[in-house]
This record gives sequence, C-alpha cells and structure tokens, in this order.
Amino acid sequence: MKLKIPSANPKAEIEELKVEINQAINSVLDSGKYILGKECETFEQEFADYNGVKYGCGVSSGTAAIHLALKALGIKTGDEVITVSHTAVATTAAIEMTGAKPIFVDISPDTFTLDPNKISELISNKTKAIIPVHIYGHPADMDPIMEIAKHNKLYVLEDCAQAHGALYKGKKVGSIGDIAAYSFYPTKNLGAIGDGGIILTSNFGYFEKLKMLREYGWKNRYISEIHGFNSRLDEIQAAILRVKLRYLDSNNFRRHEIAKKYKKLLSPFVLTPIEKQNCFHAFHLYVIQHPKRDLLQKFLFTKGVGSLVHYPEPIHLQPLYSSSERLDLPITEKIKSQILSIPMYPQLKDIEIEVVVSSIMEFFDDFKT
Ligand SMILES: Cc1ncc(COP(=O)(O)O)c(C=O)c1O
Repeated sequence: MKLKIPSANPKAEIEELKVEINQAINSVLDSGKYILGKECETFEQEFADYNGVKYGCGVSSGTAAIHLALKALGIKTGDEVITVSHTAVATTAAIEMTGAKPIFVDISPDTFTLDPNKISELISNKTKAIIPVHIYGHPADMDPIMEIAKHNKLYVLEDCAQAHGALYKGKKVGSIGDIAAYSFYPTKNLGAIGDGGIILTSNFGYFEKLKMLREYGWKNRYISEIHGFNSRLDEIQAAILRVKLRYLDSNNFRRHEIAKKYKKLLSPFVLTPIEKQNCFHAFHLYVIQHPKRDLLQKFLFTKGVGSLVHYPEPIHLQPLYSSSERLDLPITEKIKSQILSIPMYPQLKDIEIEVVVSSIMEFFDDFKT
C-alpha cells in the first residue's frame, strides 16, 4: 500500500528546489572537476561558518565522519569510547572501525540523550573519548559532559548526524566539543541525494590530519605519509548541499511549527517530546511514546500514515553484541517498545498534520469502545 503521508519525504524538498539544484548540478557537470573541487571547499567553509567553527572536512558519509574524527583524535585499538546504546548503529560501528571498544551509557528519559550523571562510573584508564549523540535533533546536555571530559582528560566528539542547526545555550551543536561529525543522508535536516558527511573542528592540527585521512594519508598528491582511506565528498553532493544549506533555518523553523501543532493536539493521548530550556530542538524526528506503540503503528499504516521506530533494538541488545556482558541501561531498554517517529518534514502540509492527528485520535477512540 502506498502511504498517503510518509514518515520522511526527502523528494519533497528536492522538488521545491529543483530549479536551483539543477543549476548547481549543471554547473558541476560543466566544471569538469568532480571530486574535491571548488564546491566541496566552499561548502566546507560555509557549513563551518554556519556552525561557528573554523574548519570543515567533507567526507563520504556520517559513519566515515565519526570514524575519521576518532582517528584524528588518535583513538586506536585497546581504547574505550563512551557513548549511548540508543543511537544509530553507525555510531558504534565507527568506534569499532578504529579498534576501540564502545562503552554504553544510559540516557535521560526526557531528551533520550546521554545521561551525564552516569558517565563517571564507566571511566577507566582505557577511556579516551565520549560521544554524545544529539538524538532526534535535541542537544545532549553538553556543559556537564564537557566538565567531566575536562576533569578526566577525555576528548568529546559530538555526533550531530540528526541535529543540523540545533542550539545548546545559544551555541550550535558541533561547536562545543573537540570535534563533531555530521551525516548528509538524504532524510537528514540537511540531506544530499546520496551519501555524504562532514567533520567540523576549530583545531587546525585535527583539520590537517583529517584531510590526509580522507585521501590515502596524502599531504602531497600520491605521497602517503600516514594510513588513510578513500572518503571524499563529491562535487555534485557539495553543490546540492550548498543550495539546501540556504534553507536549513527556514526548514527547521517549519519543523518547529509542526512540532508545536503536534504537541498541542497529541498531548492528551501520547507522551510528546520536550525541548529543554536554553535548547533549540532541530526536530529531525518527532518521537511520541505510548505503551500501545505496536498497535498504534499498525493502525496508522491502515490509514496511510507512515511511522518508524528509531530504533527497535538498542545496540547492546542486537545480535552482534548480545553475547557481551549484561549492561544496566534501564531507560534505554524501557523506551524501545514505546517510541514511535511520526511524519516530520518541513513540506508536511497543515492538512496532512490534521490527518496524522485525527488518525491517532481515532485509534484511541476505538480503544475506548
Ligand atoms: C546518530 C547517527 N549517527 C551516525 C549516522 C551515520 O550517518 P551515515 O548514514 O551518513 O553514515 C547516522 C545516520 O543514520 C545517525 O543517525
């Protein structure tokens, strides 16, 4: 069945900007330079400026961004990196690509982000870094995280894959830790039409190393000085991202309008997400909670309303990790059967919001009878 209202709709934004995007693509085609050219360099600077950070290094995906950021920090086999289990598996896959071990910490029940109170008990002499994930677009509580990191001489890598444009105490996420990783997966608040990512930092040393890491360890072409990878952001993606970056703020504003409507109308029925004081939520996803989540999701499907679960299984309970020691992550485990991401994208029309809301209301009405 074709959904009337999908949970995400990257094509809708492309349609809106088709003229500008086609121009951007054609200009790359005419340039004759398709990898690491003017578009990538300009986008890197524009995105760094947008976030109040000095340098940007475009790479091939968000996973690559986390991996290379960790490599730039010197994370290696035998090290431990503290992060959440309630995230995309990419966060931990990237940690493991360095040879380091992810150490899972529980989340706060209100924002679903890393609980700073639970970090200290997990720090060992192998711990080298903390990766807070600004999950769903809500900033993690960065002040206490930075304080703990400073006290224990740990690096902080912000996973901003879901939080383009989010603010923590007036600062863009990604500008607070030592280094930050973004994904441009098509459905993200800033999405390409394929894979892409960027690493942001204000540290020139990390930036220099990142540029080498993304291209075979080269400083000078064809001459490898360190172990490197092939992980470059191509010119067409960069050109499209430059167009879409101009609309990121207005799109995030629209996401907020939608969130406000959802909150007002849905609060009597389900638990709705909060936005903490001093934070600007990027509302990449709008995640409601209810114990009857599975039935609600099935019902919405029959109404043509899409929804997804981010994520159905926390990482530490997935088959790859299930044989490891039993972990104490009660909040992470509690929410997994209750969370539901309902349609959220800037092009969602008011009439469609009404359909989503009335379908949810109908589900609860049916339940009463
Ligand atoms: C929190 C988080 N981290 C990392 C990633 C990885 O990004 P990508 O899919 O671009 O590799 C994603 C994207 O799915 C994500 O949501």
